[in-house]
Amino acid sequence: MHRGNDSHSSPSPADRRLSALVRHLQGSPLDAADPCLAAAPTSAAQISVFDHVVRAPEDPILGVTVAYNKDPSPNKLNLGVGAYRTEEGKPLVLNVVRKAEQMLVNDRSRVKEYLPIVGLADFNKLSAKLILGTDSPAIQDNRVTTVQCLSGTGSLRVGAEFLARHYHQHTIYIPQPTWGNHVKIFGLAGLAVKTYHYYDPATRGLNFKGLLEDLGSAPSGAIVLLHACAHNPTGVDPTAQEWEQIRKLMRSKALLPFFDSAYQGFASGNLDADAQSIRMFVRDGGECLVAQSYAKNMGLYGERVGALSMVCRSADVASRVESQLKLVIRPMYSSPPIHGASIVATILKDRAMFQEWEVELKAMADRIISMRKQLFDALRSRGTPGDWSHIIKQIGMFTFTGLNSAQVAFMTKEYHIYLTSDGRISMAGLSSRTVPHLADAIHAAVTKVA
Ligand SMILES: Cc1ncc(COP(=O)(O)O)c(C=O)c1O
Repeated sequence: MHRGNDSHSSPSPADRRLSALVRHLQGSPLDAADPCLAAAPTSAAQISVFDHVVRAPEDPILGVTVAYNKDPSPNKLNLGVGAYRTEEGKPLVLNVVRKAEQMLVNDRSRVKEYLPIVGLADFNKLSAKLILGTDSPAIQDNRVTTVQCLSGTGSLRVGAEFLARHYHQHTIYIPQPTWGNHVKIFGLAGLAVKTYHYYDPATRGLNFKGLLEDLGSAPSGAIVLLHACAHNPTGVDPTAQEWEQIRKLMRSKALLPFFDSAYQGFASGNLDADAQSIRMFVRDGGECLVAQSYAKNMGLYGERVGALSMVCRSADVASRVESQLKLVIRPMYSSPPIHGASIVATILKDRAMFQEWEVELKAMADRIISMRKQLFDALRSRGTPGDWSHIIKQIGMFTFTGLNSAQVAFMTKEYHIYLTSDGRISMAGLSSRTVPHLADAIHAAVTKVA
């Protein structure tokens, strides 16, 4: 937005100084006596063309880590960030990833040329198989187009841009609550974002009735965002029977499913089990979109590796869709990065490495499940008021504790425990050593703060 003077007022000293310098660059000699070339104004506010820019608030999730980093307490605990930590509280690089990287480094035939717009071909093929199943009829019929994208976020964004350009319905329904970035990703792509009921605070479980009612009254053809498993932030997933009812309802109204799969294998420890919701929708022959991320399940957070698959009615449609996806990607970032996708492809195509990955993935999922049990037991042994069984019923990286924002603020102030204000805790950030500290904090918050 333009600020300040109208075009008829006299130029400011900064403008006159700039004009003199431009004239000089165009060949006119500098006149040292020109008053506008006197010492530059000392205040940056007078010279910056970005002076009107207001400070944006921190991202609500990443801001938790910013606050945590500033806290000097030795007992501080960060349960805000959705990244896996070991029992020792350290980030983990999987052994199989290190092995794959070593193989890539040792291979002197590898070069750093640009990838095609759609990314690494092997990676795309193997990613589709991983999420849809090796025997997926849609893959066998060539009805799936897969493009490598910048992790889960980039896959969602590319899919959203494609839908905004080429799909007749521009309304997307997202669960309430959901991962905070969904609203912005879809809104900025030009879709109208609406919500459907998902979570029931009373049971700390699924509001299945509300979900069916909302999707039942959505306009025909609307897009519906579904978390494939390990719903973020609630950790509440529909059962297989509930998924089947959701599928029937959505297909009967021609609602278009857009799956977000950020936690395949991370929820149950089993890659196939965590993809069942998607495969159920693909089995019926209908169309859908799937955004896949390798951030959590391969620990490749910063490599930004993911894929968007679009399952179409026919091979011909899929190939036309792919041609248009290229037009979305090319002006956005031209082509995706090569390193992370090469790591994933190396692991997925080698049977022994794939099995090694499965073992390491299960170990991460099991550690999270064991943290749930330990926290539940610790609260029970303290006699903390309330039913905490949702901690062991919920699944995946997060527990939606039910603590309110005042209780969260209390835990941060008194116990140096950092979490998002909606009461979500990352179970992956806990360890046997830190569970008692968290249980003490929750107990105090529940008994002292309304
Ligand atoms: C539900 C959900 N979708 C997508 C993402 C995207 O993650 P990334 O872009 O790091 O793959 C996340 C990450 O926290 C998530 O929780």
